[in-house]
Amino acid sequence: MLRHDHNIILVINILFAAIICIFQLSTSLKIGETCSMDAEQCDGGLRCGTCPASGNTRPRCTRIQPINPTSKVNGLPFNRYSWLTTHNSYALSGSKSPEGTPVLGPANQEDDVTSQLRNGVRGLMLDMYDFNDDIWMCHSFGGNCYNITAYQPAINVLRDIQKFLEENPNEIITIFIEDYVTSENGLTKVFNASGLTKYMFPLNRMPKDGAEWPIITDMITRNQRLVVFTSKSTKEASEGIAYEWTYVVENQYGNDGQIAGSCHNRSESPPMNTTSRVLVLQNYFSTNPNVTGACIDNSGSLIGMTNTCQQAAGGRWPNYIAVDFYQRSDGGGAPEAVDIANGHLTCGCPNIAYCRVNATFGSCDIPVLSPPPPAQLPPDDPIQGGFGDGLFISAAVQPQWFYGVLFSALLLLPYIFDDL
Ligand SMILES: *[C@@H]1O[C@H](CO)[C@@H](O)[C@H](O)[C@H]1NC(C)=O
Ligand SMILES: *[C@@H]1O[C@H](CO)[C@@H](O)[C@H](O)[C@H]1NC(C)=O
Ligand SMILES: *[C@@H]1O[C@H](CO)[C@@H](O)[C@H](O)[C@H]1NC(C)=O
Ligand SMILES: *[C@@H]1O[C@H](CO)[C@@H](O)[C@H](O)[C@H]1NC(C)=O
Ligand SMILES: *[C@@H]1O[C@H](CO)[C@@H](O)[C@H](O)[C@H]1NC(C)=O
Ligand SMILES: *[C@@H]1O[C@H](CO)[C@@H](O)[C@H](O)[C@H]1NC(C)=O
Repeated sequence: MLRHDHNIILVINILFAAIICIFQLSTSLKIGETCSMDAEQCDGGLRCGTCPASGNTRPRCTRIQPINPTSKVNGLPFNRYSWLTTHNSYALSGSKSPEGTPVLGPANQEDDVTSQLRNGVRGLMLDMYDFNDDIWMCHSFGGNCYNITAYQPAINVLRDIQKFLEENPNEIITIFIEDYVTSENGLTKVFNASGLTKYMFPLNRMPKDGAEWPIITDMITRNQRLVVFTSKSTKEASEGIAYEWTYVVENQYGNDGQIAGSCHNRSESPPMNTTSRVLVLQNYFSTNPNVTGACIDNSGSLIGMTNTCQQAAGGRWPNYIAVDFYQRSDGGGAPEAVDIANGHLTCGCPNIAYCRVNATFGSCDIPVLSPPPPAQLPPDDPIQGGFGDGLFISAAVQPQWFYGVLFSALLLLPYIFDDL
């Protein structure tokens, strides 16, 4: 074989390699499309998951990030946006107690606060206790923290939040402290030590009389990008930290908050329709965290409750939607519930995805949706000897190995010809 023939084949091979690269980059998958659990094929903001509890056994791309609430209309008052919120944000599965043993009791989330913030979570519910001469994030028995229920020193999580605010100068975060701290100035000390104090939105700027909050661009310009609420009323006077239910209405949490069609205030909160409290927080998670059930809770029933709470709150969409295992769902999940709230709040559309940038309130682009692929894997067909499932799961991966084999074959071609 002549030398220049080799060169031509080499050039063809390089061209093929380039085409394959482009092809592989474009195999990103959209929400609802089938995916492989062990390859990152889903588009940004999605992850490959199943929800066996609802019969959704076929791995499909599911949402884990809401649309940025300010992406369509910026500069509205803070209370005109909705934020994805994690319940017990710090309670990560696989956490070790100070003694190195697994923390007792179930976790509420699967990724750490830094990862949550990256995914667009902007509300964090943190339980804080005096423990080991410090402030810790903990689960409790009777208001006390024990080694076996202690997750980590509060400062670790607060520093992660500080880092995020520093690196993302246009982002605003809200912390809801379930406050068991009794040590003098305990919260102030740990916030000071974490470097978060300078970002705190001042108490005297929080509206109490039903007036709107400052516009978010103003909060950003002034660098007042951390809104902090405590569950202890005395902390307002002693440390200048806002008592949550003077500013926020909040529905019942746990199983009692998951009764379809009912959205009533938790005992500490005024009734949901109390308009002097401008911010509305919607809880939706079971009393005992349930990682397998969360994908059901965070799907249709969460959106149902968002509608119920909107009515109970006097026609106000929730500013915070708080869930366990926020990444789990049947498809759109908690991010979609937040998108719905933001659509209504920011631009008068049923979902922020349908809002036009800077358009008149109520002018929407509502797409015609094609039906998603079936949720269930086909039952094992005895004729196929149980091979059916595997074929279906890997269907989406098929082009990659197919082109891989083709590519290798082409690479080998020159050598095959040499032998001839
Ligand atoms: C909307 O218009 C304002 C003012 O013209 C502009 O600053 C902003 O970037 C536009 N886009 C969004 C998403 O608000
Ligand atoms: C908790 O764990 C720490 C670190 O191992 C240990 O020093 C401490 O004595 C433990 N406290 C209790 C109450 O067991
Ligand atoms: C927190 O920091 C502020 C400002 O640096 C300081 O004035 C205050 O004394 C500190 N408070 C505590 C309890 O450490
Ligand atoms: C709702 O708020 C009222 C008035 O603040 C309070 O008395 C009541 O206990 C709350 N309701 C529930 C179900 O917690
Ligand atoms: C608020 O809701 C309660 C029921 O929880 C209802 O009795 C009351 O009339 C409502 N108030 C207003 C102002 O709508
Ligand atoms: C968790 O959720 C699943 C699915 O809904 C349910 O079958 C199971 O009983 C739940 N577990 C607990 C402990 O509630």
